[in-house]
Amino acid sequence: MKVIIITGISSGIGFSIAEHLCKKGHKVYGVSRSKVHEKNVFSIQADVTDFEQLKQAYQEIHDQEGRIDVVINSAGMGISGSIEDTSTEDASYLYNVNFIGTFHSIKAAIPLMRAAGGGKIINISSVAGRIAIPFQAFYSSSKAAINNLTEALDNEVSPFGIQVCAVMPGDIKTGFTKHRKKNRVNHPSYDKRVEKSVAVMEQDEQDGMEPEYAARVICKLIKRKKIPLYKVIGFKYKLIVMLAKWLPSAWVNKVVGSIYGFKRQSSKNTKKAR
Ligand SMILES: NC(=O)c1ccc[n+]([C@@H]2O[C@H](COP(=O)([O-])OP(=O)(O)OC[C@H]3O[C@@H](n4cnc5c(N)ncnc54)[C@H](OP(=O)(O)O)[C@@H]3O)[C@@H](O)[C@H]2O)c1
Repeated sequence: MKVIIITGISSGIGFSIAEHLCKKGHKVYGVSRSKVHEKNVFSIQADVTDFEQLKQAYQEIHDQEGRIDVVINSAGMGISGSIEDTSTEDASYLYNVNFIGTFHSIKAAIPLMRAAGGGKIINISSVAGRIAIPFQAFYSSSKAAINNLTEALDNEVSPFGIQVCAVMPGDIKTGFTKHRKKNRVNHPSYDKRVEKSVAVMEQDEQDGMEPEYAARVICKLIKRKKIPLYKVIGFKYKLIVMLAKWLPSAWVNKVVGSIYGFKRQSSKNTKKAR
């Protein structure tokens, strides 16, 4: 039996992981702003943007259980729209939840894990952290930042017996789509590109993997003696990440642009085509 903390437990991937782990007999504590009504989960109502709340909660769990074996950072949200139309407030809030929230949880867990001689920290990143999606720039870059944070963290804490992993899921059918905050204003120069791009993304998510699948993959990680630095979820996405690593970046970005960017043909190209 392991003592496990999951942030972002009230919905989607976090909730599925919790259900799975409870069935396996682990002790699961979950952090989210809303209360979780799952009888085997110890629900903690806290906001990941507030470090003091997390620090106190993790200390109390440690005092009660004597240890924290695993922390899974799944709390996150998305915003969409062009970079120029995004308000500083929305961009800052997204970074605050996705990146600073993950940092807060890690910062609260490290001293307790170090004192216990080890532990596992699993950060839920995204394939979008490797492949930047147009009109999802802040979300993509927050996940790229989580990947970098995870790599640096690995070298910092491995001497304490703490293992870390950035999990990069592909599209998953969760409440994430509904919770995404869209820019209220889109400059007319973007024409319908923003709506079209976000619609493709939303459709991909709703046709995506079930959260239970992601939960099973993540739960397998917990059982492993040694966890990898990165874990991509979904066969198609493993292939995409691998190709993005080996093919020229400009070419990969063009392909992504043709899927999500809806570039209009320039008049020069149109003339040539004629
Ligand atoms: N769905 C996908 O296609 C997909 C793909 C790749 C990666 N991911 C990542 O997977 C993670 C989970 O997403 P999901 O799909 O499960 O989305 P979701 O269903 O919207 O769940 C998000 C969770 O984060 C919590 N949360 C949001 N802001 C919070 C805050 N300030 N403090 C504490 N908890 C907060 C929410 O709980 P409350 O609202 O109750 O606080 C909720 O439990 C995210 O990091 C997301 O970026 C998702």
